[in-house]
Amino acid sequence: MAQEHTEAKKCFAAVANETGQEWSHTLKPIVFYYSRSGRTEKLAHLAAKEMRAEIMRIEPEYAYGSFSSSISRVIKERVRREHPRSSTPIPDLSRFDPIFVGYPVWANDLPEFIGDFLSRCDLEGKTVIPFATFAVSGMEKSLASVTAACKGAQILYPFEDGMLRGGDYRKWRLNVRRYIWNME
Ligand SMILES: Cc1cc2nc3c(=O)[nH]c(=O)nc-3n(C[C@H](O)[C@H](O)[C@H](O)COP(=O)(O)O)c2cc1C
Repeated sequence: MAQEHTEAKKCFAAVANETGQEWSHTLKPIVFYYSRSGRTEKLAHLAAKEMRAEIMRIEPEYAYGSFSSSISRVIKERVRREHPRSSTPIPDLSRFDPIFVGYPVWANDLPEFIGDFLSRCDLEGKTVIPFATFAVSGMEKSLASVTAACKGAQILYPFEDGMLRGGDYRKWRLNVRRYIWNME
């Protein structure tokens, strides 16, 4: 019953949005993501659709090219302790919560320009929900970087999807949607 009520509230908010009125009573989720070759992008669009979230792609200041040139550039950046930045303008997040952050694991970590972007967003008091795709190494190490970049935010419900370890997407979706319903 409570769920139906909050779903109805969301529908009203969506109608208000379509008719040009502000979302006044409800916060909306937003999905930030980066994807070089499309895997994270697919997941990001699926999550945005199912969580009824806005979606925004984060770009690096200088685009990463092919797989092999990205690998050699990321290695060089680490060795030289360079800190690549994002060129994506920082949005006003006052109407958004929770904040999903989707990324491919690079060198066993969060791509640095995403950390740069997140560290310049005002995430105080927000919930950040990270999700990642990778080949084999998992997202554990990257979570420390997400936490460090998202000052004042609580990090919840990380979701990972790789060749050796795939998460249960449906279970994640259910948990996250329950969480979003209860936030209202
Ligand atoms: C520069 C670079 C570094 C990567 N480093 C890792 C890694 O450390 N561990 C891993 O499991 N996969 C690694 N990968 C593989 C990607 O995480 C994986 O293919 C991911 O799903 C790609 O997502 P995308 O299609 O959204 O770009 C790396 C790929 C690139 C291009």
